[in-house]
Amino acid sequence: MRIETNVTKLLGIDLPIIQAGMSWASSNSALPLAVSNAGGLGVLAAGPMYPHDLEDAIDEIKAGTDRPFAVNLPLYRHGADAIIDMLLAKRIPVLIASQGGPKKYIDRFKAAGTICLHVVSGEVHARKAADAGVDGLIAVGGEAGGHPPPELVSTLVLGRAIAKAVPEMPLILSGGFADGSGLAAALSLGAGAAQFGSRFMMSREARLHPAYQDMLVKAGVADTMVVGRGFGVIRVIRNQFAEGMARAETEGLSDDQRKAVFVASSLKAAALDGDVSGGKVEAGQSTGLVSEVLPAAEIVTRIAKEYVQVVSSLPNAVYDGNSKEISNVG
Ligand SMILES: Cc1cc2nc3c(=O)[nH]c(=O)nc-3n(C[C@H](O)[C@H](O)[C@H](O)COP(=O)(O)O)c2cc1C
Repeated sequence: MRIETNVTKLLGIDLPIIQAGMSWASSNSALPLAVSNAGGLGVLAAGPMYPHDLEDAIDEIKAGTDRPFAVNLPLYRHGADAIIDMLLAKRIPVLIASQGGPKKYIDRFKAAGTICLHVVSGEVHARKAADAGVDGLIAVGGEAGGHPPPELVSTLVLGRAIAKAVPEMPLILSGGFADGSGLAAALSLGAGAAQFGSRFMMSREARLHPAYQDMLVKAGVADTMVVGRGFGVIRVIRNQFAEGMARAETEGLSDDQRKAVFVASSLKAAALDGDVSGGKVEAGQSTGLVSEVLPAAEIVTRIAKEYVQVVSSLPNAVYDGNSKEISNVG
């Protein structure tokens, strides 16, 4: 099946389904490979990876598929400059840069023929990235797991605002999407694809401890919290760490004291070691819409089929010639 949009045409993929780059969960070849082979865009999360592991994972993906895939690089990460050189030498098909401006990398990647997508969280940022010459944007709204924008503007509103601010740009919306209804919503808002994070954390190929996945499967839509305001907002599942951060805020601890609580915990402890009580169980609100772990390829196919069903069951507007009113027929 193919669902063609300006984003699928830009990226050369069959379906407007992007698997979000997620530190640890997509920091090896398994998940990106499965998603790209299923017709979406698989994304390798370079954030926490050692350069040689990243290189190996890129080689594994190239050996396992001839379809496009992306590497997500947070530009603030230690050693980013050396990684940029390595990614250029590897001639990756798509770069997804986050946490910084495009000037650092854009000219060299475009010269190498790499498609450059940039993660943004507001209209001004989006305009700047578009003017700098990126090929497309990923706008992340407040529902998102990981690092939502500090103002927590919902994807519904932020996505629409960015679609209006940079109408010429291929746009991918991220945050809150879990199924075909979400994909239909993203395309209705003006995007050419939706990006799915939490949905793919509940895939067999995600590199996550079973205790982490179990917590996600059981979580409801209201079970996440946003903590770390002022120095690194993250959306996590409510647990001992998150409650501790919330207490630190209400008890009026200084920024330094709160930061000490924040850095004492990590995503790695939860994702790899299974400490889902004291670790950072980063996840989006859409976690509550998913209640099973499936193979990633099946997730891609289901989202596409649901999309077709949802779109074909939307009410048609009919024009009443006498009253000149528009009415809906279901
Ligand atoms: C565990 C986790 C790790 C993440 N790591 C990254 C990352 O390394 N780089 C990045 O740009 N975004 C990261 N994100 C954000 C995702 O790319 C995406 O925007 C988000 O998951 C979308 O929200 P959703 O979970 O509701 O689908 C992460 C999200 C999660 C849940």
